[in-house]
Amino acid sequence: MAPREHWATRIGLILAMAGNAVGLGNFLRFPTQAAENGGGVFMIPYMISLVLIAIPLMWVEWAIGRYGGVRGHGTTPAIFKLLWNHPLAKYIGVLGLFVPFVVSCYYVYIESWTLGYALLSLFGALPHPSTAELSSPEAYLAPFKEFLSQYTGMGEGPFYHPSYLAYFFFILTIVLNIYVLIKGISGGIERLAKIAMPLLFLFAIILLVRVLTLETPYGTAVAGLNFLWEPKWSELANPKIWLAAAGQVFFTLSLGFGAIITYASYLKRNDDITLSALTASSLNEAAEVILGASIAIPAAAAFFGVAAAQAIAASGAFNLAFVSLPAIFANIPFGDIFGFLWFILLFFAGLTSSVAITQPIIAFLQDEFRLERKHAVLATMGVLFSIAHVAIFLPGSLDEMDFWAGTFFVVVFALCEVLIFFWAFSPSKAWAEINRGGFIKLPRIFFYIMKYVTPVFLFLIIIWWVVTILPSYLAQSTWTSWLTRQLLITIMAALCFLVYLQDKKRRKRK
Ligand code: PHE
Ligand code: NA
Repeated sequence: MAPREHWATRIGLILAMAGNAVGLGNFLRFPTQAAENGGGVFMIPYMISLVLIAIPLMWVEWAIGRYGGVRGHGTTPAIFKLLWNHPLAKYIGVLGLFVPFVVSCYYVYIESWTLGYALLSLFGALPHPSTAELSSPEAYLAPFKEFLSQYTGMGEGPFYHPSYLAYFFFILTIVLNIYVLIKGISGGIERLAKIAMPLLFLFAIILLVRVLTLETPYGTAVAGLNFLWEPKWSELANPKIWLAAAGQVFFTLSLGFGAIITYASYLKRNDDITLSALTASSLNEAAEVILGASIAIPAAAAFFGVAAAQAIAASGAFNLAFVSLPAIFANIPFGDIFGFLWFILLFFAGLTSSVAITQPIIAFLQDEFRLERKHAVLATMGVLFSIAHVAIFLPGSLDEMDFWAGTFFVVVFALCEVLIFFWAFSPSKAWAEINRGGFIKLPRIFFYIMKYVTPVFLFLIIIWWVVTILPSYLAQSTWTSWLTRQLLITIMAALCFLVYLQDKKRRKRK
């Protein structure tokens, strides 16, 4: 049997972890969430969630992953069983496969739009309407809206009908993911991160400088920054912004997705966790709070004025990225090049994240079923490709998958992780596990935070969510939501069955 893979260098590992975290969430989801949830005050619940939930969970996930990897397992069905000797442990661990897999089924599709738009922009194939219409944002944006809806085919009718081009780029994106994944951890993912992450930061800085110097008769980028960061204090008492902030922190740091655990399982026994996890998280936060906040919204404000930028942000992250930014670039010198930089930046962010969300299933097939890497990658991507068609063609399905896997189960899974590590396993062993080999020693207060504060906080989020968000959400269900829910249950059942099979086989061998 081939020995378990490892990261080749520390810098490569940190860039891979940063690549995992830095994704579409930083550049699209963060600015729209902040704009819609109190502007500057959004950062208060955001920072509190970061310190009390995210950073502690980050150390927990790295430690759980390294603990499992050293014992030959990179996914939670097996790792939870090692940590907690209970028949339920392995089935709770199924969440660590379910969540990343379901999210990957739509994440790769959206990632493929960024690749498509990058090339369309480079070849000047995006709309170039006349500037005469600039005074009315509505009219000026219309052709770009039309273009996006032609591209994705997300219009009226019982099914979406994406353009052939969109479908072609989806296949190309799948192939590129396979190409990276087949080369493995250090030869594929780590090498990709070493190239893509520096370029991503470079492109983002170029765009930031360009955007911040934008000025039109309608507004300035600085006005957009003021709007984004203006604290609306009255909003602070609104629980909605607390939920949104916690959700964003999870999504952006890839926490509760199983993806960090699997990456950490390729660490060696005494590799540093404390400082490396902090460094990778800091890179993500810089890419989010500094770069993510300073491109899309300020650009929209400079071009269309603050009021219109606000309306665009409220209409969703996709409109901001695929409608308003191309519209802006169509109107500045070398706009096609800036448009290319913007979308290729998003594509790099997406690709370094999508290889991270697909890796748990691949590792599961390799570790637990002894599949060769190549076969594990092809099997995983084949199933992903098939299931993605539901998100591509069935209206509302993508949002439904995101709602359950990308929002709800993430938090549930995170709660299970801390409880299993800090309660079922052993608080002192968990603490020692996190600190072993650490370049910095964590202050003792984090021990108490991880043991008490983080789980209580997570528990409150779940309760609050079930009480306030779930009922109205369920009340709006359509037949496509129900169909998607059936699919999700089927995926969950299939994964449980695989775990059951594997466990039975192992017990027979003993
Ligand atoms: N953190 C990524 C983002 O900000 C999303 C992601 C979640 C990627 C989980 C991998 C795993 O877009
Ligand atoms: Na992120």
